[in-house]
Amino acid sequence: MSISLLKQHIEATTLSQSQVAAQLGKSPATINQYLQGKYKGDVESIDKAVVELVERQKSKSTDLSNAFIETPMAHRTMQSCMFAHAMNDMQLIIGEAGLGKTMALKEYAARNSNVVMLEVDPTFSSKVLLAEICNALGVTAGRNNNAMMTAVIEKLKGSDRLLIIDEAELLTLNSLEILRRIHDKACIGIVLAGMPRLRANLRGARGQYKQIYSRIGMVHDLKMRLPVEDIAMFCEAALGTAEFNETLNKVSQGNARRLNKLLRGINRMAVLNKAPVNKDMIGQFADRLID
Ligand SMILES: Nc1ncnc2c1ncn2[C@@H]1O[C@H](COP(=O)(O)OP(=O)(O)O)[C@@H](O)[C@H]1O
Ligand SMILES: [Mg+2]
Repeated sequence: MSISLLKQHIEATTLSQSQVAAQLGKSPATINQYLQGKYKGDVESIDKAVVELVERQKSKSTDLSNAFIETPMAHRTMQSCMFAHAMNDMQLIIGEAGLGKTMALKEYAARNSNVVMLEVDPTFSSKVLLAEICNALGVTAGRNNNAMMTAVIEKLKGSDRLLIIDEAELLTLNSLEILRRIHDKACIGIVLAGMPRLRANLRGARGQYKQIYSRIGMVHDLKMRLPVEDIAMFCEAALGTAEFNETLNKVSQGNARRLNKLLRGINRMAVLNKAPVNKDMIGQFADRLID
């Protein structure tokens, strides 16, 4: 019987009996009886489910923690935030998906208390944007745009805050215009971060949005892929060796998200196979990743 194994699992994960029952696909009553050695049903199937669950848990715990690594590119991204912050400037940070923009922005926000960071999503109208900024600043204002804008500017004026807007390529022109006004009137730094099309959005198809674009002080462009030094740092942190840097740089295509998936996969495979990571494992995972 796997009762003691299940007890260890419950203790290690600090999950409740009913949460563990859900993980096992059994009812809480069944698991309660099983743990007391009183279950009269198919004990074998629970034993098997427990062993499988514990194995899955083990391979999960070999996942890379999503701990921040200060690669040269992440450092430059944070530096961009620092310039915008120190000079009350408006800055643009652009780059393909999965290069580590959000991780670096969040790290800057975590290290500096007077930062407000918002992640835009496709439902953001200008009203939602203003409401979210009010919310983040703890400002209460009427629900019309004008009242919210006035309150936000009042709160931010001379505050030395930095406003970081992530995934800003999803903002409408009207929302971008609102941010420009907040920047102009409250004189605070603003970082707009997103995919390369953000730059095009700001320029406008016919260059008609000069008002906004001319406010941008500097652009930090992460381009299409990360430099090899960054990839090497991620690989060595996850695998403890530089042996696979070159291979992983190739198959990850210089993309941190892709690399992270690969590293998690091969680390898990190594644990399950009770064997050290090798090129074959990397090849197997690389084939499964979507381009
Ligand atoms: N500096 C970093 N330290 C640790 N992991 C990172 C770092 N940068 C990126 N990653 C990994 O790559 C993934 C994608 O990064 P993310 O910041 O979401 O990219 P982007 O915002 O550019 O699309 C993250 O979920 C994380 O696993
Ligand atoms: Mg992101």
